[in-house]
Amino acid sequence: MEELSFPKDFLWGVAAASYQIEGAAREDGRGESIWDVFARTPGKVHAGESGEVACDHYHRYAEDVGLMKALGVGSYRFSIAWPRIFPDGRGRRNPKGFDFYQRLVDALLEAGIEPAATLYHWDLPQPLEEKGGWPERDTAYALGDYAVACYDALGDRVKTWITLNEPWCSSYLSYAYGEHAPGKRDETLALRAVHHLNLAHGLALEAFRGSGRGGKIGITLNLSTPRPASSAPEDREAAELAADRDSRVFTGPLAGKGYPKRWLEKRGIAGLFPVQPGDLEKIAKPIDFLGLNYYTEHAIAADPGAPDGGRVVPQGYPETHMGWAVVPDGFLRQLRWVAREFPGLPLYVTENGAAYPDPEKPVDGRVHDPERIAYLRGHLGACSRAIAEGVQLKGYYLWTLLDNFEWAWGYSRRFGIVHTDYRTLARTPKDSYYWYRDLIAGRGE
Ligand code: FCB
Repeated sequence: MEELSFPKDFLWGVAAASYQIEGAAREDGRGESIWDVFARTPGKVHAGESGEVACDHYHRYAEDVGLMKALGVGSYRFSIAWPRIFPDGRGRRNPKGFDFYQRLVDALLEAGIEPAATLYHWDLPQPLEEKGGWPERDTAYALGDYAVACYDALGDRVKTWITLNEPWCSSYLSYAYGEHAPGKRDETLALRAVHHLNLAHGLALEAFRGSGRGGKIGITLNLSTPRPASSAPEDREAAELAADRDSRVFTGPLAGKGYPKRWLEKRGIAGLFPVQPGDLEKIAKPIDFLGLNYYTEHAIAADPGAPDGGRVVPQGYPETHMGWAVVPDGFLRQLRWVAREFPGLPLYVTENGAAYPDPEKPVDGRVHDPERIAYLRGHLGACSRAIAEGVQLKGYYLWTLLDNFEWAWGYSRRFGIVHTDYRTLARTPKDSYYWYRDLIAGRGE
């Protein structure tokens, strides 16, 4: 087994997202998000489940911070629920919503854990969706205003900000493939959403720089850096086109290269990105770090019948409970890819982890999850190797602390290193929790 070796100042963390853990969906003046509405739409979420109670983190955050402290993490990546603090999306503020994040941040700092706040992890206020959601330009400006309120309320203590989580999901998965809220199926809407999400990032970034607050700001992407299924030139070309569609529509504008011409021309869709003068300059303003969420790697073969000229081909790797192939080497390839695209930019893994069908209940207070440990070990091996090669990887946030609401999969998929009993809401650390604790403490491998 390859040795895991990390610099002394490497940042260890865990990540989570508001809608997946908070619950208290109708409490203390929280407004509705697109996920509340999507979850109660029949057939959208596994078994009709929702984030209404989730892990009840809203009430149990102190216990959860305690679990993090005992784990020894240096940082916690959480997201702010936009409808909790602006129930209508903009305008009217909800002081109790702000209070919750004040208390959470205070508890983290008290425990010696650095808060890293994501502004947008998918819970768009429903009133903004009713005005058109991400396909509408005004939603980007609404996010900019919401960002300013977050910096004002928390910026004295939160020094790490992430503008967006995985805009690929908030655009394609939500407006073209219909799998996430608001469940639309229209590529034209998705491409408009792509641009407005990029613009929202640019506006939140501009507001942060303008606020004069210290600290750093970046964005989290789930890049697809697929491998060609063979060395044939057609397969290589198909893999590049897939990377254009899924990744370079985000990394291109961020890196000041604009939208990927090759794919736009092949598809004849350049006119579908509603770019206005000045947008690309805003989006390309320097960030302090890039966050990467990595779970799997696809292999792509040419397929002249497919709209983008390629299709995913199974590679025969073992799969997690999500059906996602376990490809740690793909993580190393992706880290190298990003280091080439953004030379010298500090990188953080802002999510990595795995769902496995853990035992439903702890036995004698323990949950054995050897497959998750193997997954984590393999992927941390890729990180360790990347660092040795000179990739500027500064930290790793494991997804996730608690089993939680896994979007369209409801509670049927468990990613936590702590088991959640959804009847009693009891938390039980799994073997992977102790493994990660020992790794962080330097008592690991
Ligand atoms: C990512 C999401 C995160 C979680 C993991 C499993 O795409 O950012 O909220 O659901 O997948």
